[in-house]
Amino acid sequence: MLVKSEIRVPSIENRVSRIGMRILITAGGTREYIDPVRFISNASSGRMGYALARAALKAGHKVILVNAPTTRRPPSEAKIIEVETAAQMFEAVKKHFEKCDCLIMAAAVADYTPAQPAKTKIKKTAKHLTLKLKPTTDILKWAGKNKKKNQIVVGFALEDKAVRARAEKKLREKNLDMIIANNYAAIGAEESTVQIKTPDREWLRFSQATKTAIAGRLIKLIEKGKS
Ligand code: CTP
Repeated sequence: MLVKSEIRVPSIENRVSRIGMRILITAGGTREYIDPVRFISNASSGRMGYALARAALKAGHKVILVNAPTTRRPPSEAKIIEVETAAQMFEAVKKHFEKCDCLIMAAAVADYTPAQPAKTKIKKTAKHLTLKLKPTTDILKWAGKNKKKNQIVVGFALEDKAVRARAEKKLREKNLDMIIANNYAAIGAEESTVQIKTPDREWLRFSQATKTAIAGRLIKLIEKGKS
């Protein structure tokens, strides 16, 4: 039999946040057009973003997925917003961020886009062709700057060396609540090793696990941060 002091009833706030979070997730790799038929992109498979979306849905949260192109199928239970470019992804995040409890930027967003994309297909000539690129908006940094007190902003850091130092710098400079660091081997792979840092806790490491397993653990960590 339970005596009164042993009965733990979570506060309403905790219950609401744990069960019914609205999570905005970005996934895939953006395309930055050089002309109407050619673009600059990257090898993102969307696996991590989709695994996070599935884990969040399984845990009872609502998911809006801002989906850049991939070769895989996104989870159909999520509300999906299709985008192609970094600029379109930024517009979609800006539109939905305010009513979400958490943003997870799992997409591989291009840092640069052609400064003057050609309106018609560029014709071949014998000369060298130089492309001028301009920076895109750092969506994650924008979210870290504009988040409200109860919103959680989670970013990824893809690093080849000084992983922890560089990721911690991003955590600080982009005002994030969590950063997930991984290296190039993670791109397109089924399994990955990630290291996780929040502003007030020590580093955590999830070694060589499937992205599905990692995503499940990450969503649990985010739920804890929210409660
Ligand atoms: N990101 C973003 N907007 C961009 C570029 C990246 O929101 N224009 C997000 C990614 O989704 C990821 C995080 O920023 O969550 C880190 O991306 P990463 O490429 O590791 O780092 P950058 O900040 O772009 O810095 P650098 O490429 O110099 O390491």
